[in-house]
Amino acid sequence: MGHMIIDGRKVEFTDEKNVLSVIRKAGINIPTLCYHSEVSTFGACRLCTVEDERGKTFASCSEQPRDGMVIYTNSGRVKKYRKLIVELLLAAHCRDCTTCVKSGECVLQELAHRLGVQTIRFKNTREYHELDTSSPSLVRDPNKCILCGDCVRACEELQGIGALGFAFRGTEAMVMPAFNKKIAETECVNCGQCRVYCPTGAIAIKTHMNEAWEALADPNIRVVAQIAPAVRVA
Ligand code: FES
Repeated sequence: MGHMIIDGRKVEFTDEKNVLSVIRKAGINIPTLCYHSEVSTFGACRLCTVEDERGKTFASCSEQPRDGMVIYTNSGRVKKYRKLIVELLLAAHCRDCTTCVKSGECVLQELAHRLGVQTIRFKNTREYHELDTSSPSLVRDPNKCILCGDCVRACEELQGIGALGFAFRGTEAMVMPAFNKKIAETECVNCGQCRVYCPTGAIAIKTHMNEAWEALADPNIRVVAQIAPAVRVA
């Protein structure tokens, strides 16, 4: 129980578990990718970064509110950091947004628009990974994964299954079933929670486009699928 000063306004807090919840309570909408109140806090994306009166920046989802805290949610420095984070995420992301099944409802795409990301200064570093189309209900596209871990926590903490997890480290880190199994070879119950939580097109519902998904899993056809939108734009 106490109060904080957020962007010059006094805001009371009671049992909010983190600074982000107090910011939202004040009606301020700051971007997030990996925070969901119903699963554990991961603090991976850093988009919820705010700045305090000493100029220290921190992820607001991972910090407990303290009485007398003074924070700024939209300072020039914070805005610059958020834009850079999205740029870096896009640098390691496939660039076929126009043909992505999540286009129009992708959180990463929406954030790029909102934060004014119009160019990506970094070259694309992500290697191509095969799609997993083995599940009767889901398609997993590792090329669109941003490692937020939302699907991992939803599967583990909400469903109690744990079909997905992190593998490898550093630039090789990936989210996948253990031992690089296909989804169909895991305990997955096809509930779709991972799809609900995934902010991008890394996990999508398999629909009437089954044949298209199968085609996308073919590395030869993939080349055509990626070039086609570029040709149309030109
Ligand atoms: Fe806080 Fe991702 S929302 S680090």
